[in-house]
Amino acid sequence: MFITLEGPEGSGKTCQIRELAAYLQGLGFEVLTTREPGGTDIGDQIRQVLVRLENQSLHPRTEILLFLAARAQLVEQVIKPALKAGKVVLCDRYGDSTLAYQGYGHGLELSVLRSMLAFATDHLKPDLTLLLDLDVETGLQRKRKEAEWNRLDAYEVAFHQRVRAGYLDLSAQEPVRWRVIDASLPKEAVQLAMREAVARYITDKNNGLLSAPAEQGN
Ligand SMILES: Nc1ncnc2c1ncn2[C@@H]1O[C@H](COP(=O)(O)OP(=O)(O)OP(=O)(O)O)[C@@H](O)[C@H]1O
Ligand SMILES: [Mg+2]
Repeated sequence: MFITLEGPEGSGKTCQIRELAAYLQGLGFEVLTTREPGGTDIGDQIRQVLVRLENQSLHPRTEILLFLAARAQLVEQVIKPALKAGKVVLCDRYGDSTLAYQGYGHGLELSVLRSMLAFATDHLKPDLTLLLDLDVETGLQRKRKEAEWNRLDAYEVAFHQRVRAGYLDLSAQEPVRWRVIDASLPKEAVQLAMREAVARYITDKNNGLLSAPAEQGN
């Protein structure tokens, strides 16, 4: 089972993932938690380039290739082996971030991005994606408080609004894979909603209510 967390800046993905992993472990699953970009030694080096405030001149096409390079490494080195070993993989951002940020945010063509994503991930798609949805200002304010401000947060607010709208659009296009979580609630309530969404997914899957599992490459 491959689960991803998506959503705009400061929506709580990173602060919720560990507890969600603990919940799944409590259900008896072996869980592997990872994050994007990064998650491997090579990916972490690429992440440094992506988040450096000095790298303002990074072109959107360069940016996407770096994200995809980190992701390709993560898929081969970490995600595929874990899924093969029967683990649940929980990933903090994945391919939908590319569509939301580079596609809806920067206006790169979605169909091109989808082909590049398929190439980079060897067609590996998540089974379930939780969208932590939050209004942009609230998310950015949460991050400013933390002084975790990086190059990606420094894009203008309109950019982040396109990203949020993009996520909502993507979730509406594939309602079976996505669950939208109200991330404006207190942390505990957000975690509860995430657990409920995962539990419902597992029940539906066990009852054969979900169609074709995600393509897992070869
Ligand atoms: N439900 C919540 N209510 C209030 N504050 C929250 C909530 N969830 C997270 N926060 C705070 O918001 C900040 C950002 O959270 P977090 O880093 O988990 O977001 P993120 O979705 O991972 O952001 P990014 O996309 O930048 O990685 C943190 O300081 C966190 O403690
Ligand atoms: Mg995060």
